[in-house]
Amino acid sequence: MYDQAERLRRLLQPDRSSLRPATRVITVTSGKGGVGKSNLSLNFALGLAAANKRVVVLDADVGFANIDVLLGRSPRHTLADLVRQRATIWDILQAGPLGIHYIAGGSGLQDLINLQGEQLNYLVDQLEGLQGFADYLIIDTGAGLSEGTLRFILSADEVIVVSTPEPTAITDAYALIKLVASQNANKNIQLVINRAVSPQEARQTAEKLALVAKRFLNLELQTLGYVLDDPQVQKAVKEQVPFFIRYPHSTASRCIEQLVNQQIKNGLAGVPADSGIKSFLSRMVSIFRNR
Ligand SMILES: Nc1ncnc2c1ncn2[C@@H]1O[C@H](COP(=O)(O)OP(=O)(O)OP(=O)(O)O)[C@@H](O)[C@H]1O
Ligand SMILES: [Mg+2]
Repeated sequence: MYDQAERLRRLLQPDRSSLRPATRVITVTSGKGGVGKSNLSLNFALGLAAANKRVVVLDADVGFANIDVLLGRSPRHTLADLVRQRATIWDILQAGPLGIHYIAGGSGLQDLINLQGEQLNYLVDQLEGLQGFADYLIIDTGAGLSEGTLRFILSADEVIVVSTPEPTAITDAYALIKLVASQNANKNIQLVINRAVSPQEARQTAEKLALVAKRFLNLELQTLGYVLDDPQVQKAVKEQVPFFIRYPHSTASRCIEQLVNQQIKNGLAGVPADSGIKSFLSRMVSIFRNR
């Protein structure tokens, strides 16, 4: 049994056991709810899988299960079982389409916020098992800025902020970016504009946000891309099949392919040198320690 300080020291040691590139941890979030985070997380993951990347999606929405509903599945185990030490990481990993894996959130995820001691050690140990298993860990967060969500944002290597062109979504996205920048001015934040009616509207929305971020926060906001408003998305949601699978030739699926191409093209630009599951977990642990 070891204490948290020891755990942190161990996590901070370079990982010599694996020569694989580190797993990239991307948290997907938004200011306003309902802007398309879960659909983006899942379909972006599938797009990456179609480009031969190994992807795990973690549903970290405290309130509602999202990913398993979009997939039309009911998982046997959830992250809550891991938090409560009732299951291992390999029990809770569910196989999804195109070889992706996902971890369902489950109610009781609130426990995550109060974790300490042995429980926290167990969680960290288990999640560390994903290192080398996936190229990407994509974390879908819930609506509104909870303490848990902020932790996932601050611990990730990259953050995707989703906004629609609606003024309320834009102001909420700005408020979120401002809060994140106040905690970590160097966080790699990328914008994705969802539900724009044209590429031009998407660009204008991204430009508006980038302009205020530059002027008031002195932050260079990058844009990963956009997903256009597409009725096939709603259809796929109702059919409980991800649109990238159900409607691969739809406008929304083509937008996902562009996002994936851009993500791959960006390579490691803007990604912290210490990216990966270990660093992600060590950031999580230090945030837990300092709260
Ligand atoms: N590109 C799109 N085109 C058309 N409709 C969309 C698009 N993206 C999302 N939607 C619609 O918005 C709904 C909400 O999407 P989603 O559940 O992904 O949002 P969310 O941000 O995860 O919500 P929450 O904040 O509640 O977690 C979808 O069920 C779908 O009807
Ligand atoms: Mg959601």
